[in-house]
Amino acid sequence: MRSKLVVGNWKMHGSLAANSELLKGLLAGIARAGSVDVAVCAPFPYLAQLQAMLAATPLRWGAQSLSEHASGAYTGEVSAAMLGDFGCRFVIVGHSERRTLYCETDATVAAKFVAAKAAGLIPILCVGETLAQRDAGETLRVVRSQLDAVIAVAGADCFAGAVVAYEPVWAIGTGRTATPAQAQEVHAAIRARIAEADAAVAPVLQILYGGSVKASSAGELFAQQDIDGGLVGGASLVADEFLAICQAANR
Ligand code: 13P
Repeated sequence: MRSKLVVGNWKMHGSLAANSELLKGLLAGIARAGSVDVAVCAPFPYLAQLQAMLAATPLRWGAQSLSEHASGAYTGEVSAAMLGDFGCRFVIVGHSERRTLYCETDATVAAKFVAAKAAGLIPILCVGETLAQRDAGETLRVVRSQLDAVIAVAGADCFAGAVVAYEPVWAIGTGRTATPAQAQEVHAAIRARIAEADAAVAPVLQILYGGSVKASSAGELFAQQDIDGGLVGGASLVADEFLAICQAANR
């Protein structure tokens, strides 16, 4: 049986003061999450704040990206080891906003995935199709090719110690959530592709759904057989809403 995981992706939101209020709100209600693992991924400058406020709590934390390089002349970049220095357990890799706005290719994403694992972080690999690709019937092919790109570089057993997030691009920040059946179909295909590569890891791999998850939609999504929790954007910035999503995973 897989445990559930809910991760908040704050994206480029927050301030020291706002984060402090949000984290206090989450800590006050985190018992509602029961046995669900809960984490938040913040912008780099706030990782020290997360470490200070969350170290002795059940909440975990992480970053939203990292460099594929270990160190060197890469102005503006942040390495996996640096994230480790600030107590990160997770790092999001290959978010569609990174792929689209910052030109991250499948090759870059695979290199970042490898760098995260080498430093002992748990990469949350994001995959997902655009609306045009869905309309063209290419969803499963696109998602498979995104997984294949990582397996080709990182190896067949690379999903041990990793998390996959299915985030249909058309559902991110749009208020349009995939239906539970649409999401389940893709999650099952992801697990089947991983099983081809590594039959042992597929049944235990946590596969999260992301894309306009709200407290009102979370319960039905998380009840699907292959949906093991969520990667939550906008709703993770409101303590009560995020806690209600975590609670929905605790069933
Ligand atoms: P929203 O929940 O705001 O749609 O964002 C989803 C997402 O991109 C999480 O990584």
